Parts: sequence; C-alpha cells; structure tokens
Amino acid sequence: MEIRVSRRVRELSGYAFAEVDQRVEKLRQAGIDPIDFGVGDPTQPTPEFVRKACSEALDARASYGYPSYVGDPGFRDAAAEWISRRFGVELDPQTEITSTVGSKEAVFHFAEGFVDPGDVVICPTPGYPPYSRGARFAEGEPFFLPLRESNGFLPDLSEIPPSVRDRTRIFWISYPNSPTGALAPEAFLAEVLAYCGRYGIIVASDEAYTDIYFSGEKPRGVLEVSRDGVVAFFSLSKRSAMTGYRVGFLAGDKKVVEVFRKVKTNLDSGTPTFVQDAAVAALSDESHVVEMRDQYRRKRDILVDALVGAGLPECRPEATLYVWQKAPSGMEDVEFAKAFLDPEVAIVTTPGTWIAEPTASGENPGKGRVRFALVPSVEATELAAERIRRMKF
Ligand SMILES: Cc1ncc(COP(=O)(O)O)c(C=O)c1O
Repeated sequence: MEIRVSRRVRELSGYAFAEVDQRVEKLRQAGIDPIDFGVGDPTQPTPEFVRKACSEALDARASYGYPSYVGDPGFRDAAAEWISRRFGVELDPQTEITSTVGSKEAVFHFAEGFVDPGDVVICPTPGYPPYSRGARFAEGEPFFLPLRESNGFLPDLSEIPPSVRDRTRIFWISYPNSPTGALAPEAFLAEVLAYCGRYGIIVASDEAYTDIYFSGEKPRGVLEVSRDGVVAFFSLSKRSAMTGYRVGFLAGDKKVVEVFRKVKTNLDSGTPTFVQDAAVAALSDESHVVEMRDQYRRKRDILVDALVGAGLPECRPEATLYVWQKAPSGMEDVEFAKAFLDPEVAIVTTPGTWIAEPTASGENPGKGRVRFALVPSVEATELAAERIRRMKF
C-alpha cells in the first residue's frame, strides 16, 4: 500500500545533519569516541533526593489511576510557591497554573488554542524549533524575527511589517535565550508586552533556562511585568536535570490558561503523578540548582577560555548551557563544525544554520556560528579544551 503523508509532515524541513553525522560515525568506526557538545541534554544524574521522592511516590500512588489533566493540586501549589519566591509574583494555582508534559509538548501544542489558518506566530531565529513547527501544525504562519549580536540578541520590533502584525496571534520570546545565552533587560520585556497588548497578541515566554545564569542578578521573567495576555512556560528539565521525567508548567493569564487546558484535555492525560511528586521535591530545593549553576559556569569558562586561546572571538554567555560561538570571519558554520570533527580534536557541535530559520529577506542569523551545549562532564570539557587550544584559527 502506498502511504499518503499529510502536507504538514511533508513540508517539515528535515534536519541537514547528514554530513556531520557521517563524520561522527566515521570517528566512531575508527575507534574515536567524540566529546559531544551537540544536544542540550544534561548528562549529570538527576539529584538523588529527587529520584528518591519519585520512587517513594510510586508506592504512595500505587492505585492512583490517570493523572489530573491540569496538574496535581500539590504540584500546582509548589509551582505557585516557586514563582512567588523566584519572581515575587502571587498566582492562583487553581486558575493561573497548569501542568505540562515538559515544555516541548506545551510549546508545540500552544498554537492549537489560538491560531486559525492564515494567522501569524512570531518566532525568534535562531530559536527552539517547536515555536514554528507548532504554528505550522495549527495551520498558522511563522514569521521569523532575527536575533543578532548587534542588538544584544533581542528581536527588533520595528522589523515586523504592519500587515504581519495585524494577523499575529502569538509572539514567542525566550530569555535567558537559547542558543545565544543572552538575557533580556526588563525594558525589553516591557516593550514587547506593551506592543502585544496594543495589538491583541498573546505573549508566550519560554523561560526554560531562567535558573541557569552566571551573574549575581537573577534573570527577569515576563510575569514580573504583567500577566494580562501573557503566559510563561517553565520546565524542570534543565533546572533540576530532569529531562527524562517530562514535567513542566504554564503560568499566567487565566483566560489563556483555560483555553490551553481545554486543548490539552483532548491531547494527553497529564504527567504521571509520581513524577509531579518528584518535581515538587525539586521545586522546593534551591541548593542543587546553585551547584548546577556553578558546574555550568566552570564548564563555560574552561571551554570559552580555550576557544579564545585558539584565536576565536570571545562569546561567553551570560546564561543558559550554550556557547553560541562565532567562526573566524568568512568561515561557514558547517565548515567550522567540521574543523572540530578532525580526528585530533573529535568534538561535536551543532552548526548554527541548523537551528536558525532564514527570515523573510533570506537572512540566516545562524550563519557563521556553532553551538556548544555544555553537557559533557567537567573532566571531558577540560579534555576538549586541551584539544581546542592546539587548534589555530
Ligand atoms: C529553549 C527551550 N525551550 C524548551 C525546551 C524543552 O524543555 P522540556 O524538556 O521541558 O521539553 C528546550 C529543550 O532543550 C529548550 O531548549
């Protein structure tokens, strides 16, 4: 039987990973195990007290059945308490917070509640692919706003044509920003919220990295500015090394939360309650997050010092677990990534154009950059640094 594939799936651009993947495979065949800075999946274990809370909850919840669609009351209370401590904002866990099966599904499915065919979703580029993929699956059109170093990796709202603005339903922002590592000043958040408020656009703020920062000052969140037409997406994945648990939450405008709950009630049956119990334990503790930040800071400095030592421009991020490294001038990002795959170096990175979409004018802000995800151990990062210092650009 010939299988007919939907237009939505046919039109998905594949990742052009083949060339680099082949080189990685070749290294492996030659008995070289590359140091993998490619995918942003933390390799350190989930903290022991979180694992323990999860296994205890398995027994305590032995006959608990399906989880709640909107999140267990204890989980939503813990999320509200964390938001209060983290941002000084008081939310009603009954109406202003709802659980997600990790941010990826929530980001992808969000457009389903608010987008009709022809509506626009503004997405940053480079940016997390589900912002635009979710828009496309909801039959909307993504409009890509570039994040350039010259503007502090903030989108420039004057680049949105009025004809696009008037059809826009959702504006995605994400700070601390992946992959650029930039922070957003409060004035920028206020500017985006004012713009969106004026034109009836929902602000969807992906704050997955809000707890991974390196200066003394905590990154600001949109909920500190307003919750009118505004929602923030939070995840336990990076904060507590819980990517495998699949748990997060959405918080903000109760009218938006209500619509999203309606979408999700038809989609999934929630995060297992014993996983939510583990998340309650993780949200109630900050000391493991302090340790996590220290470790990421160490790895950032080891790697960036080596890159600078090899003659590359300094791209030290202020936050997140990514280094958005600029190539020597004139070098393409795939060439740059391949240079790190030399058998003497054997380091995997992600070329910038693979995680950045071109804008309407054809500009690809991922050009000439590679992304390092600071996920190998400190020891592996030191080994990588030793090899990088021997490279000459
Ligand atoms: C910017 C950004 N948002 C959201 C996520 C998704 O996190 P989760 O594991 O909660 O789905 C990621 C994961 O890498 C991310 O980079």
